[in-house]
Amino acid sequence: MGFNVAIDGPAGAGKSTIAKLVAKKTGFIYVDTGAMYRALAVHFIEEGLDGEDLSAIERACQSASVSIQYENGVQKVILNGEDVSALIRQEQVGNMASKSSTVPKVREKLLELQRNLADQEDVIMDGRDIGTNILPNAEVKIYLTASVSTRAKRRFDELTEKGERCDYDEIYHDIEERDYRDMNRETAPLKQAEDAILIDSSDRTISEVVSEIMNCIENRRK
Ligand code: DC
Repeated sequence: MGFNVAIDGPAGAGKSTIAKLVAKKTGFIYVDTGAMYRALAVHFIEEGLDGEDLSAIERACQSASVSIQYENGVQKVILNGEDVSALIRQEQVGNMASKSSTVPKVREKLLELQRNLADQEDVIMDGRDIGTNILPNAEVKIYLTASVSTRAKRRFDELTEKGERCDYDEIYHDIEERDYRDMNRETAPLKQAEDAILIDSSDRTISEVVSEIMNCIENRRK
């Protein structure tokens, strides 16, 4: 069994940025479970499915296979033999993933892949149900959050910097909708595990948050 760090929290809280930095400092493998849900979402979009048609999504799970590879420590996600790591970052894919991840069959499909990785390696794994469901015995559990307005502003700045046109109010509304779906679905909803440490990154720098998590890890390793 590896040493496991679970980071859960809503979209845009900074989980992947923080987890990658902690992975670099500790030498642990960073596992982005959202990327796995996004890869399956690419499959559902390619099949022409509507995000509201949950039975069609359930059926389409059968023809999808997702795996993970690491190249120089960077996670690549493979869907039916094809590297979809770049494709999965589209907004449309994130929205489909938020809908299709409510389907129990979709979650079942990824559960073993996630647990096997954590079993074999020291990992820092981020997602929505890692501390509550996937790795209930993780040595360190973090619930990383930030206000909706902070997260919307970060997303707006990120897209603007890339030269993409976007609307702040639309992003704000999208985040609220995604939070609602992630927190209120029946299977493995996003919530803080009882033994998780709550970190609100709204008014804190990235390096402050990384330091706090590093302290938690060091305390557990003593
Ligand atoms: O973290 P992300 O934005 O890449 O995740 C995309 C969607 O996948 C998210 O809206 C909910 C779902 N997801 C999930 O249900 N469970 C996880 N462990 C990770 C992601």
